[in-house]
Amino acid sequence: MGPAFASDMSSTSLSGGGSLRGSVRVPGDKSISHRALLFGAIAEGETTIEGLLPAEDPLSTAACLRSMGVGISAIEAGSIVRVQGVGLDGLKEPKEILNCGNSGTTMRLMLGLLAGRADRHFVVDGDASLRQRPMARVARPLAELGGDISGREGGNKAPLAIRGKELKGGCITTPVASAQVKSALLLAGLTANGPVTVIEPALSRDHSERMLRAFGAELSSNPQGEKGPSVVVQPGSALRGQQVVVPGDISSAAFWLVAGLLVPGAELTIENVGLNPTRTGILDVLEMMQAPLKVQNQRDVAGEPVGDLLVKPAELKSFSIGGELIPRLVDEIPILAVAALAAEGTSIIADAAELRVKETDRLAVMARQLRAMGAELEETDDGLVIPGGQRLQGADVDSETDHRVAMSLAVAALVAEGETHIARADAAAVSYPTFWDDLDRLQRG
Ligand code: S3P
Repeated sequence: MGPAFASDMSSTSLSGGGSLRGSVRVPGDKSISHRALLFGAIAEGETTIEGLLPAEDPLSTAACLRSMGVGISAIEAGSIVRVQGVGLDGLKEPKEILNCGNSGTTMRLMLGLLAGRADRHFVVDGDASLRQRPMARVARPLAELGGDISGREGGNKAPLAIRGKELKGGCITTPVASAQVKSALLLAGLTANGPVTVIEPALSRDHSERMLRAFGAELSSNPQGEKGPSVVVQPGSALRGQQVVVPGDISSAAFWLVAGLLVPGAELTIENVGLNPTRTGILDVLEMMQAPLKVQNQRDVAGEPVGDLLVKPAELKSFSIGGELIPRLVDEIPILAVAALAAEGTSIIADAAELRVKETDRLAVMARQLRAMGAELEETDDGLVIPGGQRLQGADVDSETDHRVAMSLAVAALVAEGETHIARADAAAVSYPTFWDDLDRLQRG
């Protein structure tokens, strides 16, 4: 029997019942890729980036930076990307609108990067999904530092105009544990006229802190701060170009982890996965589920922990998650919902209202699409309640343009009875352009 897989440009059909074997090297971490481009752009000298994710989202960041005069070499799989830094204040006023595509990280970090570029004017925009996403969470604290950002719905929605201003220092307590908000404020702080402190309700991913320090910024963090995890950036230090090595994205590895646990007879090795503790919440949950996961070859690569993950099928227990764990696995909740359906007992996801303002409302979309496959699950205001022991049926489903939904549904299809047709499967290219090829290869074993 050939691979149970057929696809055209935008949709894919998958059949359950096959197996999944071999090694896979997931593409570069999306968060780290954006940051390497952004920090390289405002550093002095050249930054080289190995393993940069050649997917739509980082390409959006690179295109915005290029239109402000930053030289960035071609971004292709396997190539070393070279960024010619223009220095802390060297970004030029672009002639065109900065198109952030589908990428929330691009838009929010751009707001922080550009708010302090005195005497320059910028407009940021994005696709239909990005135009619906809240930007006031960044624009409002930037206004407290003297920023001037305006847009639809009181400055909350793109297109947004940024009038560059001299920024002052300050202490911002943000109500959301968001690395995008934190990173935008740290970027703004680099050129403010006093230190900028960010206090968040729970620790979000700390790639910006690690990489900014490596580039020479003066930064101090206190993850155990009395009012919450905090970080202070002192303005003024020039950044120096670096050699960045981007590890594989644990958020992309997550699809193979769950597939490897659920597909009968599977045996997968996922190589070179970033294991930064602010990102490994999924491993904690899989452990709670009693998944027999092995981490091998642990090492440190350019300031980020990395390892290889080995996974085989197992009987899984249900899980209950919420609180400070959520920011450590925020992008993995759609695939964890698929894992929960197969577990013994009812799983509960709480405190995850942030999922409603991701590329889609991921709680609603996952509930809707999994129900189309025969699943029974309850959507709450801030999460999902998912009874386990359910067998899925092949069906017509839709990514609703969300990359992580597309890949989660692919894993669901692998364990469903019969054929599943995934519409708008090409959304996966936002973070994992070779996902369907890797799946095809692993199915052939
Ligand atoms: C990201 C942070 C997360 C995550 C997104 C990437 C980043 O968003 O969902 O995919 O690179 O900073 P929030 O920090 O807004 O939760």
